[in-house]
Amino acid sequence: MNGSFKSALVTGAASGIGRATAFLLAETGHRVLCSDISKKGAQEVASGICAQGADAIAVKADVSDPAAVDKMVQKIIGWTGRLDVVIANAGIMEEGGLLDVSLEQWNRVMQVNATGAFLTAKATLPHLIDTKGSLVFTASTVGLSGMKGVAAYSASKGAIVALTRQLAADFASDSVRINAVAPGAVRTPLSESQFRARARDDSHFEELLEAVIQRYPLSRWGTTKDIARTIAFLASEQSSWITGQIIPIDGGLLEIR
Ligand SMILES: NC(=O)c1ccc[n+]([C@@H]2O[C@H](COP(=O)([O-])OP(=O)(O)OC[C@H]3O[C@@H](n4cnc5c(N)ncnc54)[C@H](O)[C@@H]3O)[C@@H](O)[C@H]2O)c1
Repeated sequence: MNGSFKSALVTGAASGIGRATAFLLAETGHRVLCSDISKKGAQEVASGICAQGADAIAVKADVSDPAAVDKMVQKIIGWTGRLDVVIANAGIMEEGGLLDVSLEQWNRVMQVNATGAFLTAKATLPHLIDTKGSLVFTASTVGLSGMKGVAAYSASKGAIVALTRQLAADFASDSVRINAVAPGAVRTPLSESQFRARARDDSHFEELLEAVIQRYPLSRWGTTKDIARTIAFLASEQSSWITGQIIPIDGGLLEIR
């Protein structure tokens, strides 16, 4: 296998930020394994990429299942013989502050978001060492600052923030770079379900969506492309001296008052 292409694996690739990232990595010359718990969704994204003349395949994998994660990695190594870029992006959201969230919800969010990130990193790092590759996690602004009513989710994203710094320290001597993006509010099925859960009815749902915009200095929702562009930058040689960073992409939310 020659080194004229790069090989990328994206988890949570069927929708939202992962989908946009899979397309962007394909546009920038990567062969992309689109992985998701939704087989159909992953296949649709891979087919869309192939229809644009790039290379992609799909795999169904639940990131909280170690055997499925190992199979996912075998699939891309079997296909391209190498792994240069890993985007550990799959995630779920459960509404609820500490007194509302059940142990079951807490465990599920931690299993997918935190353990899923851990398992993806553990299975892929040996291959990233071979290529001196790049791993990018999807954290969140709520992993860096408090937000009312999302206890399990924010704890899971805080775990990703700490894991990013820890792994960056552990693998810097192997020339593997490990960073995270911390998106603010982006219109995707995940964020819409959060506001659906809070809304009394359709018009309240629209009001809640509108109210988000008021909180952001740049006065708009983030787009999946806003996030994908920074992920692709962190995956590329253009960020060759950046590791251990958590980069907020948040329309100024965390730093501007
Ligand atoms: N949308 C936002 O406002 C926002 C903000 C900050 C961080 N994030 C993070 O961005 C990431 C992507 O979210 P999104 O907004 O694009 O949501 P999304 O719901 O559009 O996409 C998430 C994808 O992850 C997949 N997924 C869910 N559970 C999985 C599992 N166990 N194994 C494999 N795949 C699974 C889903 O099928 C879906 O395709 C998540 O980690 C999320 O926490 C989103």
